Amino acid sequence: MDYNILKKEIIDNIAIITISRPKALNALNTLFFNEMDSMIKELSNNKTVKAIIITGEGKAFVAGADIAEMVDKNSQEGSEFSRLGQNTFRSFGELDIPVIAAINGFALGGGLELAMGCDFRIASTKAKFGQPEVNLGLIPGYAGTQRLSRLVGMGDALYLLMTADMIGAEDALRIGLVQKVFEPEELLDECIKIAKNIASKGPNAIKKVKSVVRNGLEMGQIIGEELEAKEFGTLFGENSEGKEGMTAFLEKRKPEW
Ligand code: CAA
Repeated sequence: MDYNILKKEIIDNIAIITISRPKALNALNTLFFNEMDSMIKELSNNKTVKAIIITGEGKAFVAGADIAEMVDKNSQEGSEFSRLGQNTFRSFGELDIPVIAAINGFALGGGLELAMGCDFRIASTKAKFGQPEVNLGLIPGYAGTQRLSRLVGMGDALYLLMTADMIGAEDALRIGLVQKVFEPEELLDECIKIAKNIASKGPNAIKKVKSVVRNGLEMGQIIGEELEAKEFGTLFGENSEGKEGMTAFLEKRKPEW
């Protein structure tokens, strides 16, 4: 597929996807979702890619869903546009490899929802976060109502959703919306370092830790623990990654995955 909005670069097995529609502050339209679905499929078929970083070009990460595209939609089309984004962002969680949001600027509305669909979020000191949908008479439509409260708790989520306040990177760090903050010029390099660090671990263990945490959130604790025990066990098979990792530790050498 030809990409008009997305740019892809692969550095040392780490794929960097840049959302590049800076004149509209990278607002998310139907073309974006089609391209992102195709890009995710392409990267998931490329077994040499060990992590994905998503960032934005210009002063925004993403300033939300494309208001100009949404304005003429009817109820049914509104719901369809919501499901389109929900499906794309859900697909990040279904990948075997980590997906990291490198938030360079505005992450508003659908932009924050995109970031929350990633496994974790690293921000520039210049990043700004918010769910301003109520300013438009809307609510978030790309799972923001669900993910924000799970990530930061109900009080902070409802505060942000009801006030539409924009917060900076330090506040986002304080409430757990982002995991690290770096100077703008260091953001991408630091994200690549984090991605490479993860890529040096057992790939199967990374895949399982992601799926057990994510699927566990949808379950009760006891059922989640059972899932953990089952997946823990799979890492003990003959010639498994777990056996190699533990043997390497005891033999005081680096594991070979
Ligand atoms: N959709 C479409 N176009 C957008 C956009 C969006 N979400 N955000 C910005 N743009 C466009 C602007 O219309 C403007 O275009 P023109 O140059 O053609 O006029 C261009 O990007 C630059 O924007 P500004 O001139 O407004 O830039 P600024 O620096 O003065 O302000 C901003 C930046 C505060 C982010 C402001 O652009 C803004 O408030 N944007 C809208 C944010 C928003 O409401 N997001 C939520 C969208 S709804 C949503 O996301 C629903 C959902 O969950 C599914």
